[in-house]
Amino acid sequence: MGSELTYRGHDAQVAEDGGAYSPKPEKRLLWLSRPVRYLLREQRLLFVFVGMALASVFFVFAPSSNSPATADSYLSTDLARSSYVPAVHGGYRTALERGFAGGKVPLGLKRKGLRIVVTGGAGFVGSHLVDRLIERGDSVIVVDNFFTGRKENVMHHFGNPNFELIRHDVVEPLLLEVDQIYHLACPASPVHYKFNPVKTIKTNVVGTLNMLGLAKRVGARFLLTSTSEVYGDPLQHPQVETYWGNVNPIGVRSCYDEGKRTAETLTMDYHRGAQVEVRIARIFNTYGPRMCIDDGRVVSNFVAQALRKEPLTVYGDGKQTRSFQYVSDLVEGLMKLMEGEHVGPFNLGNPGEFTMLELAKVVQDTIDPNAKIEFRENTADDPHKRKPDITQAKELLNWEPKIPLREGLPLMVTDFSKRIFGDQ
Ligand SMILES: NC(=O)c1ccc[n+]([C@@H]2O[C@H](COP(=O)([O-])OP(=O)(O)OC[C@H]3O[C@@H](n4cnc5c(N)ncnc54)[C@H](O)[C@@H]3O)[C@@H](O)[C@H]2O)c1
Repeated sequence: MGSELTYRGHDAQVAEDGGAYSPKPEKRLLWLSRPVRYLLREQRLLFVFVGMALASVFFVFAPSSNSPATADSYLSTDLARSSYVPAVHGGYRTALERGFAGGKVPLGLKRKGLRIVVTGGAGFVGSHLVDRLIERGDSVIVVDNFFTGRKENVMHHFGNPNFELIRHDVVEPLLLEVDQIYHLACPASPVHYKFNPVKTIKTNVVGTLNMLGLAKRVGARFLLTSTSEVYGDPLQHPQVETYWGNVNPIGVRSCYDEGKRTAETLTMDYHRGAQVEVRIARIFNTYGPRMCIDDGRVVSNFVAQALRKEPLTVYGDGKQTRSFQYVSDLVEGLMKLMEGEHVGPFNLGNPGEFTMLELAKVVQDTIDPNAKIEFRENTADDPHKRKPDITQAKELLNWEPKIPLREGLPLMVTDFSKRIFGDQ
């Protein structure tokens, strides 16, 4: 009965078309299932392949974001390649989970900024780093207790929705949802770190522990700003990262020197034991605008003294050497280290070596040729020589400082004279 009805239907169609309809001779494909037959008909399959090929060519050659610190560079460098998988963390999303999962940033989508904590971000180096991160499009949270830092250093970001400032002491725990942690909080000049040595060592040890704990908990990458002081009064010159140093563990500078050495130990133990992504920078003497004016560091001392027409105080015979790096070079190095795939430690400093007397001469030439030099008794444990070997940073981070002392110093002098004498 059913077949009869079907048959009549065909008849009816033939009649309507005036007898022109003739079914296609497809009997050869009858053994194939219906969807496959559909695909094979009228070269549909061919068009599907051509479409797929065009799409692949498009995505392979489409431009990706070239920003030096794109989220994908962040991932491809470490999260993707590292032998460690980010630690399991309690409910917070890393950059990976927030949509930067490898490959290129899809066309038409702008790189999504990272959320970054800078501890000590209201200080000298920290505030310059914050400027660069904000400029790059990241969201920055500064955590600072204002021991040596100043609100004025970051005030120009107030009102920017990508900027937050938290008054907090890193010796107390803190919970924030972030992708990266630049840990700078620690007084850096002898005047300040000797002011309360117990607090200094606590900042270095407990503060670093707290920030490493945070990094572990939220799966953030952690960068420690260590120091050339870990080499102490070095017996090897220039200092290579493999040198273990010659440090007095019980001296007046030990709260800082040994504090930073312990901070390095903690950082490496969290890396090996808790799979935290870490980076270590060993910073050599750095100078530039926003340094504390009377902090006892030799460059800021000489510049402030020359501007105030006071004699330049040289401790000891003035033959001890230091290397001076301009702050923008350091910030560049720190960012390259954070974005790169190597843990370190890396020396970040300018290998140009000056005796204190040579530095005094550069200051005289820049500010006041008549500035007098006054010799004072040297302080305890003052290293005789300091010069970084930066071969490793050159090779692995493609970084080296660009600004020589005679170019950087005038930039600092402009800032210091404004702060000492006002705008006049
Ligand atoms: N500038 C250099 O030449 C140099 C050399 C070697 C290492 N470093 C390291 O770089 C980092 C920054 O140095 P800087 O020259 O900008 O010094 P800085 O003193 O200007 O900045 C340190 C910042 O940390 C803050 N801070 C200190 N203790 C804190 C605490 N317990 N909790 C929260 N915030 C705290 C200070 O208020 C300040 O804003 C330091 O860790 C320092 O050891 C600097």
